[in-house]
Amino acid sequence: MQRGDGLRGVVAVDGPAGTGKSTVARRLAAWLGARYLDTGAMYRAAALGVLRAGVDTSDATAVSEVVARSRIEVGTDPDSSSVLLEGEDVSREIRGSAVTTAVSPVSAVSQVRGLLVAQQRRIISDATAGGGGIVVEGRDVGTVVVPDAPLKVFLTATAAQRAARRAAQDGVEDLAEVRRAVERRDRFDSTRATSPMCAAEDAVELDTTALDIEAVLGRLHELAVARGLVVLAVRGRT
Ligand code: DC
Repeated sequence: MQRGDGLRGVVAVDGPAGTGKSTVARRLAAWLGARYLDTGAMYRAAALGVLRAGVDTSDATAVSEVVARSRIEVGTDPDSSSVLLEGEDVSREIRGSAVTTAVSPVSAVSQVRGLLVAQQRRIISDATAGGGGIVVEGRDVGTVVVPDAPLKVFLTATAAQRAARRAAQDGVEDLAEVRRAVERRDRFDSTRATSPMCAAEDAVELDTTALDIEAVLGRLHELAVARGLVVLAVRGRT
């Protein structure tokens, strides 16, 4: 396993927060010299736009109007991902608690999903044109965004483990509160009417509760190789 191997096609990595999804998806893309798309960052940027517009997140019509006129741009370089809203880098702000609370209702609006899924498909099609590869992470990548992805992985972990990872990552001490927030968001994301979070029928489910990032990464690499998606770079030849 050496950096420089190439990925061909789409690897869809879905699952709830705290499963290690972002780290693993980004590192797999970097390892395989592929592009990387964080679809959650796009919903977060949309939610920030809604908050900035002063619109009530439960008003679906107003929310979709704001998102329709928002300019959201995401970079696909796994080594330096960027998220822009109206040309401003909002990579940090979208990780704050105000956006984390607003993103579930905003991402449940079907018109918002329609707009962002269309944009995600354009990005994916650009990245894969000419035989390139991209690792795409989210909640509905394998079910809705790219239902014909040649490799779909759905990561899970217990709520306790996911809360512990989130708390450590964000430097929060109140574990019980983090766990309640994680469970609240899961409930919302998996029961919404449009594209609820769920594993695609043909997804490989991987429980990461007892696995570290390296183990998950290794497993995903193995799966990509087994599906014929990794093109080994030929070294020492010109
Ligand atoms: O992965 P994340 O925590 O940054 O995602 C933020 C929110 O965006 C999450 O609560 C659900 C939503 N989301 C979604 O509905 N569909 C996606 N493909 C990605 C994220």
